[in-house]
Amino acid sequence: MDGMQIRLRRIFRRESGRSLIMAVDHGMALGPLTGLVDIKDTISRLDATGMVDAWLLTKGTFHYAFNPRGCPGVILRISGGATIAGPELTREGLTGTVEEGLALGADGVAVSAFIGSPYEHETLVNLARVAGECRRWNMPLLGVVGVGKINEDKKQDPRFIALGARAAAEHGADLVKTYYTERDFDRVVAGCPVPVLIAGGPKCETDLDTLKMVHGAIQGGARGIVMGRNIWQSPHPEALLAAVEGIIHRDLGVNEAFELLQECKKIR
Ligand code: 5RP
Repeated sequence: MDGMQIRLRRIFRRESGRSLIMAVDHGMALGPLTGLVDIKDTISRLDATGMVDAWLLTKGTFHYAFNPRGCPGVILRISGGATIAGPELTREGLTGTVEEGLALGADGVAVSAFIGSPYEHETLVNLARVAGECRRWNMPLLGVVGVGKINEDKKQDPRFIALGARAAAEHGADLVKTYYTERDFDRVVAGCPVPVLIAGGPKCETDLDTLKMVHGAIQGGARGIVMGRNIWQSPHPEALLAAVEGIIHRDLGVNEAFELLQECKKIR
């Protein structure tokens, strides 16, 4: 065993080899979104379900709003520096270091790369630089693949998403978070030598749509999710979390997961 393996074990559940990672890092760029206004409360409610394997969060949230009951995995977001009010959301720089992650007891760090955006070069170089530091400390690096506004329509293009996932891995990411494509998602996974997990993107219209997306991703070979809005903006976050967990860790089908969602809604 080495530090890399120990940390990955805290992120991926051993029985399924997959992970349900809850993303709550949105405020750094998008402000207090619905569902994260009282981020402390949201984290505490979702943590209480015992279903979250790891959290993706910023240093500010870690310090002021994170107090889990157990010892879930933690992935510290160390890129940022841009908001929706600024000139370019894709102009992310490094906002933390691997050592900072080590000091917080993090099991991974996350850096964005915006493929096809004006800041593609800078963000990929940032990713590669952090990958070097991560190797030194045996710290897993989550490459967060973004596309930027000008490529928003390409989120559904499996060739474009495959390019981003592959580029993130080749620049040193140990795990890649990217978008789910309804078509040929298995090709995105096949072309990426490291585990692929999906983000949710803007909220799906219904909880059933979220279940279908997660199921499609797992069927296509995703190793889990790094999801935010679809869960904590759902009218029934805890119940949806239970259904999503069933798909990820117990291979539930969409219908079974939907039934579980309905059952959980009655008690949660
Ligand atoms: C926000 C992020 C999020 O971590 C990521 O997009 C996952 O969240 P969601 O499922 O809401 O898209 O990078 O800046």
